[in-house]
Amino acid sequence: MPTPSYRLWKKLTPKQIKKRIQQCLKENVDFEQRTILGIPVSRLDEHVFSQDERLLDSSVYLRALVANPNHIGCHTLGDSEPFFAGTHELEREAIEIVADEIFGGVPGEQDGYIASGGTEANLQALWIYRNFFRAELGAAAGEIAILCSSDSHYSIAKGANLLDLPIRSVEVDGATREIPRAALEATVAAMRADGVRYCIVVCNLVTTMFGSVDDVDQYADCLAAAGLEFLIHVDGAYGGFAYPFVVPESEYSFTNPNITSFAIDAHKLLQAPFGTGIFVIRKGWMRFATTRDAKYIRGMDMTLTGSRSGANAIAVWMLLMTYGPHGWYEKIHLLNHRTEWLARQLDELGVAHYRHPAANIVAIAAAHLDAELIERYGLVPDDHHDPAWYKIVVMNHVTVDLLEPFVADLRRLQSK
Ligand SMILES: Cc1ncc(COP(=O)(O)O)c(C=O)c1O
Repeated sequence: MPTPSYRLWKKLTPKQIKKRIQQCLKENVDFEQRTILGIPVSRLDEHVFSQDERLLDSSVYLRALVANPNHIGCHTLGDSEPFFAGTHELEREAIEIVADEIFGGVPGEQDGYIASGGTEANLQALWIYRNFFRAELGAAAGEIAILCSSDSHYSIAKGANLLDLPIRSVEVDGATREIPRAALEATVAAMRADGVRYCIVVCNLVTTMFGSVDDVDQYADCLAAAGLEFLIHVDGAYGGFAYPFVVPESEYSFTNPNITSFAIDAHKLLQAPFGTGIFVIRKGWMRFATTRDAKYIRGMDMTLTGSRSGANAIAVWMLLMTYGPHGWYEKIHLLNHRTEWLARQLDELGVAHYRHPAANIVAIAAAHLDAELIERYGLVPDDHHDPAWYKIVVMNHVTVDLLEPFVADLRRLQSK
C-alpha cells in the first residue's frame, strides 16, 4: 500500500494534465521565438513528423515528442541545462513521486532520473558503487564483487562484464525460488576466502522468469556477520510498480536503511513508451558517477545515458497523474486478481507452477505443456535451448477471458 500522505501524487483530469504540460513546454526554449545557435537540438523534422496544430492539440504527448526536449543529466540536484528547465520540472516531480511516495523516501533526500530501462538503471547503480568503493575506501582490483541470485536478470552479468567486476550468484531453491541461508553464507565465505572485501548486492524485487522476491534483510545480515562492506541495490524493474501496492509495510522502501537504490521500469507494468526505466538513489551517491569531462553540459553529467528524451519523462509523469495513487492501486489489484485466478486454476488441475503472491507472473513447469499450446498462447521459456519453465505475464491485455481458453486447452492436454 502506498504511503497515505500524497504531497505530489494526485490524480489529475486530462485537461489539467494538458495544461500543466503545455505550461512546462512553454518554459522550455522555443526555437522560433528565440535565437539559439549553440545546441545541437531542434524540433522534430517537419518533413517527417506532422506539426499540424489540430493533431498536436489532440495529444499533448505528441506535442511533447515534436518539441523534442533533451533531458541530458540529472535534474534532482545541482544545475541543469536551462533550455529545457520547464519539462525538467515534470521529470523531477515523477522521480520524487516514485522515491518519496511509492518507495517511502524522506522528501528531498533522494536523487534520480529516467534512464533508458532497467538495464541502464542497474548499470548506473553498479557503476556508482564500484566507483565509491574504489575512491572512498581504496578498494583494489579483485576486492569488489557483485552478489546476486541465480534468478537475477542478465543485465547484472552485463554490468559485471562492462565494469570488470566478478559476479557471484547464489543458487536459489528450485521450488521456492528463495535463496537458502546456508547457500548464501557459503557464497559469502567463499568470497571472503578469495579476498573480496566490498560487495555490491543486487536484490530482486520480482525476478524476470518467476516473479520471486529476494529477502533483502537476509543479504544484509549475512554480509554484516561476515564483516564485509556492502551496498544494496534493488532491481525492481519488474516489481517496482506492483509490490509496494500489494505488500503493506513493504521492506522494499527507503525506510529500510539496508537499501541505497532502486531500478524500476516504467515501460513494463506502467505501460510507458520504451526507454523509460527509473533510477532512484539516496542523496549523496550520484556524484560517484560524475563525468567531469562533460564540461560543456551545465551541471555536468552523472548518468550513463547522455542525451535522452524529455518526452519519455513526460510520459511517465502523465501516467502517474492520470491514475493517481488510488487508481494505480486498483489497477495493480485487478492484475493481481487475474493472476490469482490463473494460479487457482493451475492448482485445481494439479499443474506444477510457481507464483509469488505479489507478482503478476506465473511460471508453469514445461512438463505440463506441449509445443502447440506454447505456440498458440505465446508462452516464454526460461531457456530457449533447454526449457524447464514457461511463463505467463498478466499484463493489462491479459484478461481472465483470454486466460480461460488457455486453461481449457491445458485441461484437455492433462486428460489425454
Ligand atoms: C528483473 C529485471 N531487471 C532488469 C531488466 C532489464 O530491463 P530493460 O529490458 O528495461 O533494460 C528486466 C527486463 O525484463 C528484468 O526483468
